[in-house]
Amino acid sequence: VGSGVICDNIPGLMSRQRLLCRQHPDVMMSVVFGAKKGVKQCQRQFRHHRWNCSVSHTDSSVFGKLMLKGSKEAAFVYAISSAGVVHAITRACSQGRLTNCACDPTKTGSSSDRNGKFDWGGCSDNVRYGSHFARMFVDAREKRVKDARALMNLQNNRAGRRAVRRHMTLECKCHGVSGACTIRTCWLALQEFSRVGSYLKTRYDSAKQVSMNPMGTGLIATTSGGRKKTTRSDIVFFDESPDYCVQDPLAGSLGTADRECNHTSKGPHGCDVMCCGRGYDTHVVRRMRKCDCKFHWCCYVKCRECEELVKVNTCRGPNPTAAPPISNSIYARRTFT
Ligand SMILES: *[C@@H]1O[C@H](CO)[C@@H](O)[C@H](O)[C@H]1NC(C)=O
Ligand SMILES: *[C@@H]1O[C@H](CO)[C@@H](O)[C@H](O)[C@H]1NC(C)=O
Repeated sequence: VGSGVICDNIPGLMSRQRLLCRQHPDVMMSVVFGAKKGVKQCQRQFRHHRWNCSVSHTDSSVFGKLMLKGSKEAAFVYAISSAGVVHAITRACSQGRLTNCACDPTKTGSSSDRNGKFDWGGCSDNVRYGSHFARMFVDAREKRVKDARALMNLQNNRAGRRAVRRHMTLECKCHGVSGACTIRTCWLALQEFSRVGSYLKTRYDSAKQVSMNPMGTGLIATTSGGRKKTTRSDIVFFDESPDYCVQDPLAGSLGTADRECNHTSKGPHGCDVMCCGRGYDTHVVRRMRKCDCKFHWCCYVKCRECEELVKVNTCRGPNPTAAPPISNSIYARRTFT
């Protein structure tokens, strides 16, 4: 199948993205894989929250399905998808799966860190290429209209790319007589993507609310104590989030009816918070679990599958006889005008 056919069948690509796709069909696999990995990681980070990152049309999130509001959650989805794309392309480079890149060619000769001198060796992950391609591709969706929302998305895409770069670490191997570390060979290595995910979650927790600057050329942080600059690693957003308690598709909220909660926890997964005060039901459900695990010489662990009965709490839905919740229609109006 020619690359034209593949690229024409990925939904939601902008024309510039389709062009990049045709020119680099090999990289596209990593782009798609990376975007999916980003959303999966998002779901993992938010599994215990009211908003659980179940973005609709999950698999095309990088390719155009815009989330309606400029909320903190939309901001996070952009950042982590962008990070996923950088991570996946960079990994594919090192594995020799792409024609235009390989291990970082600049990491040759010798250098030094706080432990002294070392020689570059092995394969340094080529995060510059990954980041460069991700930027060209993911940002291509925003370039045309540089309105406020485009500036927000570009900033969050960049925060995602930086998060991956920030988690590169120097890994070394010692050589020398009987393990004496007289000669070291080192390379720069990507970290597990879950580390990047946890880090971006902390940036989400301290995300900055912004507005357009008076010239309309950039974003400024809107804090209670006046205006402040944002840094290039900040996750930024415009709109206050809905509380995600009830279903409101226009605001991107599925509601928390039937979500599982923990009745002893005081955190976001606790039934009080998760169910928004509507209460919860307790059911007994059967679940399979690994049990009687035995270590066999050498070296594997064998377990049995045991069935167990567990109590599960799930949130009640909104009371159907009560007045309907005030919807976030203000956001909808804003988005569609
Ligand atoms: C997220 O929550 C919705 C309901 O609020 C549920 O239908 C969906 O399965 C959940 N998604 C994940 C990935 O947990
Ligand atoms: C529920 O929350 C409590 C307190 O945070 C915790 O100790 C417990 O392990 C949680 N239970 C489950 C099933 O996650």
